[in-house]
Amino acid sequence: MDNSIYFETNRTDTLQQKFGILGKSTGVQSMLETIEQVAPTDISVLIAGESGSGKELVASALHKHSRRSHKPFVIVNCGAIPAGIIESELFGHKKGAFTGAQSDRKGYFQSADGGTIFLDEIGETPLETQVKLLRVLEQGEFLPVGSSTSMKVDVRIVAASNRNLEKEVEAGSFRKDLFYRLKAITITVPSLRDRREDIAALANKFANDCAVRNQILFKGFSEGAFQVMRQHSWPGNIRELKNFIESMVILEKGGVIKTDVIYRYLNAESTPTEMNPLLPVKLDRNVDQAERELILQQLFMLRREIAEMKELIAQGVVPRPQEGSSSEEYHPALEVLPDDHNQEIDSESSPAILNPTLLGALTAAQVEKELITRSLERFNFNKRKTAQALEMAERTLYRKIKEYDIVKES
Ligand SMILES: Nc1ncnc2c1ncn2[C@@H]1O[C@H](COP(=O)(O)OP(=O)(O)OP(=O)(O)O)[C@@H](O)[C@H]1O
Ligand SMILES: [Mg+2]
Repeated sequence: MDNSIYFETNRTDTLQQKFGILGKSTGVQSMLETIEQVAPTDISVLIAGESGSGKELVASALHKHSRRSHKPFVIVNCGAIPAGIIESELFGHKKGAFTGAQSDRKGYFQSADGGTIFLDEIGETPLETQVKLLRVLEQGEFLPVGSSTSMKVDVRIVAASNRNLEKEVEAGSFRKDLFYRLKAITITVPSLRDRREDIAALANKFANDCAVRNQILFKGFSEGAFQVMRQHSWPGNIRELKNFIESMVILEKGGVIKTDVIYRYLNAESTPTEMNPLLPVKLDRNVDQAERELILQQLFMLRREIAEMKELIAQGVVPRPQEGSSSEEYHPALEVLPDDHNQEIDSESSPAILNPTLLGALTAAQVEKELITRSLERFNFNKRKTAQALEMAERTLYRKIKEYDIVKES
C-alpha cells in the first residue's frame, strides 16, 4: 500500500471538513493548504478567482480559523458603494464633514476592530481611496472624513477581486504599491472548469443539502449525468452549479437524475423558451442569482402552505373557497397556482405546484412579480411585514414594487 497517497487523501478530507470547502482537485488541495497556513496569522490576503468560484467562502474560512473568530467579520462590497461615499463608509466621518453628516459615524474599519474586514471587489475602489487603504494596510491607521486626528484599528484585511489586478495596474486603474502589498499572499480559487473532477462531489452535496432543507426526495444522479455536467463550462462557477442543481432537485420529481434531464436544463439555460418549454422558471442570466434562490424558496413555502391549507379544508377547519367568492378566509397564496392546483400533493415525491407545465410560461421576473403581489395582498400592503416574509430588504421591495408597477387594487 502506498502510505503517502493514503496520508494525502486523509489530509485533504480533514481540511475540506475543517474549512467547509469541498474539492480534491490539485487546485483546491493547494488552496486548502494555504488557508491552513495563513488563517491563524494576521497577514493580509488577496483572494483571486472568477465570479461564483468561492472567494467569500475562503475569506470566511480565514476569519473563522483565526484568533479573531469571535470578533466581527465585516464584508464590504467595494463595487456596490458609490465612489462619493466610499470613504465615509469605510473610515467613518465627523459631524459636519459634509452636508447631511449630522453626527459622527463609525466606518466599516472601526466596526471590524479586533476582527477581519473582507474588501470584496477591491479592484472597484477609486484610486484616491486606494492610497488610504494602503495606509491602513501599512500602519493600521486612517482618517475619518472631516477629522484631523487619525484612528488606529486592529483589523485584518482580506481582499478579493474577480478582475485581473495585474492588468488593472498596467491600465492605470489599480495602484501598483497597493497591489504589491496585497499580492504577497494570494489565494487563487480555481474556476470550476479547471477542477471538473470535483463536480460530482459538489453536485451530490448541493443536491442532498437542498433535499434535506426542503424535505423532498432525491435519489441521486446517474454516472452519465455527472459526465454531462463535467463537460459543461460553468461560466458562473460553483454558484451556477449550485443553482442549477437546486432548481433541478426541486423541480424534478425525486427520481434518479439522468442525462436527459441534465441536457434539458443545460439547454434551457442557454436557449430559454422555444428549445425548452418545460423549464418552469427560465434561467435568465440577468436575474440575480440570489433572487432566483428567493423565488424557488418562496415557491416552496407556498407549496407547503397550500398543503397545510388543503389539510385544513379537508378537516373542515377552513371553509372551501367558493367559485368567485371573496371570502376573507380564502388564502391569496392559492391564487398563485394555475387551475389544476387541486391535484394531490405528495409531499414525499412530487412537488406538484412546481409541475413544469404549470409554470412553464412564466419568466423568473413574472413569478417574482406574482409572489410579491400576493404577499403584499396577504399583508394588506404592509411593506415591512411583506419584506420580512419574503426575506427581502425593505428598500429592495420598494424598488421592485416600482419596477413591476404593482399597485394596490381597491
Ligand atoms: N468549494 C466549495 N464547496 C462548497 N460550496 C462552495 C464551494 N465554493 C463555493 N461554494 C458555494 O458557492 C456559492 C458561491 O460562492 P462565493 O459566494 O464564495 O463565490 P464568490 O467567488 O465570492 O462569488 P462573487 O465573485 O460572485 O462574489 C456559495 O453558496 C458558496 O457557499
Ligand atoms: Mg463574493
